[in-house]
Amino acid sequence: MTKTKISNPFLVNNYQGSDYFCDRKIETQTIKDNLYNGNSTTIMAIRRIGKTGLIQHVLDQLPTEYHGIYVDLLETENMNQLLNILATAIMSQTPQKSKFGKTIWNFFTSLRPTISFDPLNGLPQASFSISHEETKTNIGSVFEFLEQQNQKIVIAIDEFQQILNYPEKNVDAWLRTRIQHLNNVVFIFSGSQQHLMAELFGSPQRPFYRSSQIVQLKKIEQEAYTDFIVDLFSKYKYHVSRDIAEQMLDWTDRHTYFTQVLCNRVFARRTRNITSADWKAEASLILKEQEVLFFSFRNMLAKNQWKVLKAIAKQGKTYKPTAQAFLKKYKLSSSATVLKAIKALLNAELIYKDYDEHGEAFYAVYDLFFRRWSEQKAF
Ligand SMILES: Nc1ncnc2c1ncn2[C@@H]1O[C@H](COP(=O)(O)OP(=O)(O)OP(=O)(O)O)[C@@H](O)[C@H]1O
Ligand SMILES: [Mg+2]
Repeated sequence: MTKTKISNPFLVNNYQGSDYFCDRKIETQTIKDNLYNGNSTTIMAIRRIGKTGLIQHVLDQLPTEYHGIYVDLLETENMNQLLNILATAIMSQTPQKSKFGKTIWNFFTSLRPTISFDPLNGLPQASFSISHEETKTNIGSVFEFLEQQNQKIVIAIDEFQQILNYPEKNVDAWLRTRIQHLNNVVFIFSGSQQHLMAELFGSPQRPFYRSSQIVQLKKIEQEAYTDFIVDLFSKYKYHVSRDIAEQMLDWTDRHTYFTQVLCNRVFARRTRNITSADWKAEASLILKEQEVLFFSFRNMLAKNQWKVLKAIAKQGKTYKPTAQAFLKKYKLSSSATVLKAIKALLNAELIYKDYDEHGEAFYAVYDLFFRRWSEQKAF
């Protein structure tokens, strides 16, 4: 990956190499061990905690006998697009001049796709105008082709739950049949819609049940994240004390994305010696900027749903949303209406359900900034 020092080391978009990546040592090793033993892995976690980053981190560290390919299904709507994305990912992520690259190129051209080149980065893009049956045959041939190679292949499929939205039926069963006998190709699956991923991999009636090892990605540990923040600031000659780093982590509740955003913004102030007042000023600015978005939640939701969303946000972790104490505290009408609202909010991915270290279930809002903003409001 890139070796030049980037201008702001707290990344909020793409993976840029291990220098800017905090911890995840155990999870990285687990996934690598799985790969080396021919086993697939499924990464499960709430949103924006770092699943995609972890995939990139693993692929970035593969030994030379492994070739990693990252496939993002987010934009795909049917099997034909799955084939296009798969072919494009394989072609664009394999150096064309290598021996393996030439073999791949020959194979794909034999399938007769239309190949165009991305005007921005010059990478090849494949698209097939073929029937549904041919599409299925071609996807099957791609896996069979990869299986025959001397090179070990790792295919990481992100936003995998998208296959549930395809108009074709039982895509998971079909796909599982195509890939379960492969020895040379190992998979990493992940996706941002946790309830759908849990359905695909956690339900005994589903074909992918027990097909891979599940890695549950939790928040990065306090100590590791504190070290990371202090060190990264100091590499650029800025001083952040451990205490300040911990204050920031408390505010972001150690949620990766929100921590990265806050640190990125504090870093951008370019203050040599960062104080409590500095990060707090930046945090306030972030909330102010996001306010429009929060009001759009209100317009999008029924009155009752908005009330429940605010209540869960203010509460932080809500263990018993239907208990009298909770209803009373937030002036909610009945447990039945709260349950109905929770269902809608879960579906809209505004809240999530998770389990604490004692295995107790709780609800929390996804958007940490919304939580902090709600806490300031009297409502
Ligand atoms: N270990 C890490 N160290 C530093 N930054 C990280 C780490 N993991 C992820 N990030 C950053 O945090 C943000 C969110 O991470 P990422 O996109 O990987 O989350 P995700 O779980 O895939 O999210 P989604 O559920 O939306 O798909 C990104 O900006 C990414 O660069
Ligand atoms: Mg992701």
